[in-house]
Amino acid sequence: GIVVIDFGGQYNQLIARRVREAGVFSELIPNRTPVDEIRKKNPVGIILTGGPNSVNAEGSMTISTEIFELGVPVLGICYGHQLMTKLLGGEVVRGDVKEYGKTEITFEDNTTLFDGLRKESIVWMSHGDTVHRAPEGFRISASTKDCEVAGMENDERRLYGIQFHPEVVHTELGTEILESFIYNICKAEKTWEMKDYGDMKIREVKELAGDSKVICALSGGVDSSVAAVLVHKAIGKNLTCIFVDHGLLRKDEGDMVEEIFRKRFEMNLIRVNAEERFLSKLKGVSDPERKRKIIGEEFIRVFEEEANKLGDIDYLVQGTIYPDVVESGTGTSAVIKSHHNVGGLPEDMKLKLIEPLRELFKDEVRKLGEELGIPHDLVYRQPFPGPGLGIRVLGELTEEKLHIVREADAIYREEIAKAHLDETIWQYFAALPNVRSVGVMGDERTYSHMIVLRAVNSIDGMTSDWSRIPYDVLDIVSRRIVNEVKGVNRVVYDITSKPPATIEFE
Ligand code: XMP
Repeated sequence: GIVVIDFGGQYNQLIARRVREAGVFSELIPNRTPVDEIRKKNPVGIILTGGPNSVNAEGSMTISTEIFELGVPVLGICYGHQLMTKLLGGEVVRGDVKEYGKTEITFEDNTTLFDGLRKESIVWMSHGDTVHRAPEGFRISASTKDCEVAGMENDERRLYGIQFHPEVVHTELGTEILESFIYNICKAEKTWEMKDYGDMKIREVKELAGDSKVICALSGGVDSSVAAVLVHKAIGKNLTCIFVDHGLLRKDEGDMVEEIFRKRFEMNLIRVNAEERFLSKLKGVSDPERKRKIIGEEFIRVFEEEANKLGDIDYLVQGTIYPDVVESGTGTSAVIKSHHNVGGLPEDMKLKLIEPLRELFKDEVRKLGEELGIPHDLVYRQPFPGPGLGIRVLGELTEEKLHIVREADAIYREEIAKAHLDETIWQYFAALPNVRSVGVMGDERTYSHMIVLRAVNSIDGMTSDWSRIPYDVLDIVSRRIVNEVKGVNRVVYDITSKPPATIEFE
């Protein structure tokens, strides 16, 4: 495969991901990895990534020059381009002008890396330092208005440098340039599929955990489910999954989790039905953040109690995925995911972590999940907050209100699926605003609950726009909820984007 050496830039995992997308295995490894270890991996190519520092700063990240003597093509990107320059005797200086964002570039004639591409294009730049003089034996292959050596190559030694970022979508020919490196220069073979990744991780977990006892908190969410199934394939019954059913799940969800993991995958699954326990803790509490805190803490307590019953445990499986790693800003150290589904597991559990999905993006996790045989519906499940319906019944929770919102939500989901909107809407749910209003049913005046429907389109949940659901679909949903769910006489649709509103109501 292609080894990507990490110098701390924001987009580094994206580089490995782009190479995998192109069909060649790729992994990101720390820049401190000894060259011998890299040699053992038998890479067909090496990529040096971007990074936040200056190659001229004292103590800045570097690598042994042996990396250029392996006889394997090397592509330096941004910091990697500058590091290659510096290590091979060229000169990197503080640029007069910082280039940031979309930038026009010109590729020279007869280059190897840009062979067959049109000469003028747009690339994504993000740098303060700049290559002032390429090392001996290199020719300039690309330049921009403010950056003379935006690309350089030494065909004899098969070393290539580019100042811009081919891995981000704003670089027009980014994919073509990476593929040119992968296939024309490294002569890699298109062999990589998600299945191989799964097999590799299963082998790794087997080697690591072997006969140890491993536990996992299963919520029915995509990431923890995929991680659990993968670890189960590696160590079978040595894995015990604890599923804390807090009674705040959607309709039939708890049974579905049990069905899939216990019946289909024959995993060791402990389901704890803790609805009463959670509701009694939440009694009289209406503040959203307090509800969240109580649900999170109670979750941990129940989980710990169950884990303690199992005796000595060595490892905890976590469904941490790459965007979580970036968000938590933890580098390579193993810290319990701070935004764990429900509040975070305690650090004093002293368990070693198994995080088989740490390198993957969400859509890669989904692909892997399908490869592992997890049902499509679960793998493409919409996001669901850890505190569940606990924050979708506004204010104080009661069993009755939970029942109403659960039934209304089930109808909504059913009709959205019937209209095939579930494939395009990012997240949709019903909430109970704890408001009663007057209505008329038959000849009777009613004074009942209102249901709010929410549906949003989003990329990552940070911002969102409300979904333009066809009126006819909303009409059916409204009629069905009012007719079928006792205690509801009015249905409204939320038409606010985020910001200023949030996706959830609490
Ligand atoms: P907001 O309401 O902040 O939601 O716009 C953004 C996304 O985050 C989910 N969400 C949560 N997820 N625990 C979670 O695991 C929480 O406490 C929580 N609150 C919101 C929400 O469903 C949406 O996808």
